[in-house]
Amino acid sequence: MQEYKDSISRCENLAELDKIRVDLLGKKGLITAEFAKLKDMNESEKKAFAANLNKLRDEFESLISAKKTELESGEIKAKMKASAIDVTLFNEPSNTGALHPVMATMDRIIEYFMMQNFSLEKGPLIEDDFHNFEALNLPKYHPARDMQDTFYFKDFKLLRTHTSPVQVRTMMSTKPPIRMIAPGAVFRRDMDLTHTPMFHQIEGLVVEDEGVVSFANLKSILENFLRYMFGDVKVRFRPSFFPFTEPSAEVDISCIFCKGEGCRVCKQTGWLEVLGCGVVDSNVFKAVGYKNVSGYAFGLGVERFAMLLHQIPDLRSLFEGDLRLLEQFK
Ligand code: PHE
Repeated sequence: MQEYKDSISRCENLAELDKIRVDLLGKKGLITAEFAKLKDMNESEKKAFAANLNKLRDEFESLISAKKTELESGEIKAKMKASAIDVTLFNEPSNTGALHPVMATMDRIIEYFMMQNFSLEKGPLIEDDFHNFEALNLPKYHPARDMQDTFYFKDFKLLRTHTSPVQVRTMMSTKPPIRMIAPGAVFRRDMDLTHTPMFHQIEGLVVEDEGVVSFANLKSILENFLRYMFGDVKVRFRPSFFPFTEPSAEVDISCIFCKGEGCRVCKQTGWLEVLGCGVVDSNVFKAVGYKNVSGYAFGLGVERFAMLLHQIPDLRSLFEGDLRLLEQFK
């Protein structure tokens, strides 16, 4: 029997083990055959023989079942090893794309105002005189209508020169309270280091019942917004003029490059102009048929923000589609 015990312990696979089991405990197995001898024995012989035989059978059964468990777990391990993935292996570098810096900047700005409960409005790129100028209190003789600035079509249509016409469209299609931003492309006849014929603006407009909205609200939302975008900067409001707001202001932040000391980017002033804003002029409300309301509006150039955030010296480089530039923004 020792020889069977040895072969069980040496056994290397389940098939071999099963063969040993059949040889010992199967129908024609060795131990089974011993049990057959019991019927020819007398009572006293029988008892001792049977006890021994049962012990032997139990011993083999437990040896075989222990070996079976051992072999099975070995086989699972071998299978897992064969199909394992080596996560430490290097992969071919893949060529993933990335958002254009202007779009990434736009998304960040939109995200901020969405968090402040502003809705997102859209308007057409091809506008008419009424929405782009007239309703915004830009009278017929206003210099901004000049051929120098505006792309006109033959039929008096034009490419919108700012996102402000979306203010007009939203006011005319809904009722106050309004709390909206309008991002999108705008067009002007301009081309130099800091101007391209197409660029992007984000417009903001808040309108509520009379007297509810003040310049202080405008200041607070813009100050918080600019600190969200540029970090710990000083913000100042300079009196300015826009036909559609009164009073109007241009907003500067302390120069993020020299911390207000004066450098090339801020032209030694220590300040960077970043947006225009004001309290909505009553003539604009008149043009859209609103009475007894108050509101503020603001507009900013997305490219200007992107240039400042990423220190891009030439605006035109953003629109040349040069991968060497774009790959820096992955
Ligand atoms: N539309 C103005 C521009 O294009 C920006 C602006 C918007 C200013 C709203 C004040 C209020 O320059």
